Amino acid sequence: MSVSLLKHNTLGLEQSCDELLVVDSKASLIETCLSLYHSDKALMILGGGSNVVFTEDFAGSVVKIATKGIAVEQEGDEVLLTVEAGESWHELVAYCVEHNFYGIENLALIPGTVGAAPIQNIGAYGVEFSQVCHSVEFLDLDSSQLFEISAENCQFDYRESIFKQQLKHKAVITAVKIKLTKVWDPQLDYSPLSSLDSANVSPKQLFDLVCQIRQSKLPDPAVLGNVGSFFKNPIINTDKFETLKDKFPQIIGYNLENGLVKLAAGWLIENAGLKGFSIGGASVHQLQALVLVNSANATGNDICQLALHVIDVIEQRFEISLETEPRMMAQFGEVVLS
Ligand code: FAD
Ligand code: EPU
Repeated sequence: MSVSLLKHNTLGLEQSCDELLVVDSKASLIETCLSLYHSDKALMILGGGSNVVFTEDFAGSVVKIATKGIAVEQEGDEVLLTVEAGESWHELVAYCVEHNFYGIENLALIPGTVGAAPIQNIGAYGVEFSQVCHSVEFLDLDSSQLFEISAENCQFDYRESIFKQQLKHKAVITAVKIKLTKVWDPQLDYSPLSSLDSANVSPKQLFDLVCQIRQSKLPDPAVLGNVGSFFKNPIINTDKFETLKDKFPQIIGYNLENGLVKLAAGWLIENAGLKGFSIGGASVHQLQALVLVNSANATGNDICQLALHVIDVIEQRFEISLETEPRMMAQFGEVVLS
């Protein structure tokens, strides 16, 4: 038996798996994952499928996490939420804005599940998940035990965490604890938001503006398949940035605290003339060059060949190695881009 994964990945790739198990309770999530992990069947954990590229049919079982629940604890102005992994991230943000729990409004409209948020430490508009994370509950597949790891031990970094390193393929995130506040202190540093007046802007206005900016820049996966940014913004040292700036005076870089510079990869790709460039059914998005889109019944292989071409052109032109952000999934599990 094969089951289509078309509706379970935002790139809209037509691949299948042997079995799709949608689990909506923590007990069945634990039991299902453990029994598959200790069997000879391949296991893939899936949330909303908004950061995966299926390159082949998957010869194994996909466990789609659909566990729900938000528990709220309040003490003074502090709020601690315990959120089950299958909750929608965007719906959680909307729920928090509605209940006057502040801290994640800048992360509105990021697709996917709450359980996936710690994995690449989702971030947007000047805020990262790590800033509001209290701890993460996960099932350790080797020991069959549930653990709670504190945010300090999650090794959060730009699009990075322990779940992409030591705990990769070993941990199933079951719930996330998020610490928010009832004190309104808007984060407006990121340039499209800096026009707002911090003394007067309401949480709902900020939430709405973030949604509006995102809708104007990023393609809606329901209309044009994509996984958001396909590449990470490269981080380089100041000397290299100055050398590049001599050659490309318009290059965009943001100073980080530690003397490093984060380049806008979208600018590099656009400057290399790749906007709209296609291979098969995959294209570099016309409006946002950091996004690769499924423009005409693309295969996962089209997407990968296009990504490799972009990496090659950027290496030749700027001597910068772009790294991919989404996870490539092949016949027996995760693979590196090739
Ligand atoms: P999936 O794609 O289902 O899974 C991603 C990876 O995590 C896979 O390897 C999967 O096996 C693993 N995984 C998923 N859930 C679990 C779990 N509970 N336990 C263990 N492993 C798990 N990202 C940002 O950071 N910032 C943005 O602004 C942003 N904008 C986006 C805009 C668009 C239009 C799209 C399509 C994507 C965007 N993304 C962004 C990327 C994506 O939304 C995030 O990475 C999101 O957290 C992925 O969630 P998911 O549930 O869809 O994960
Ligand atoms: N730019 C161009 N040409 C392009 C695209 C961008 O010149 O085709 C320039 C923009 O003009 C701007 C700069 O590049 O000056 C940065 O662009 P933008 O603000 O749109 O952000 P980004 O670097 O493209 C990052 C994240 C997004 C996140 C936004 C907002 C990464 C890899 N991407 O995108 O995250 O939503 O900032 O904070 O860090 C994702 O990870 O999937 C994602 C969408």
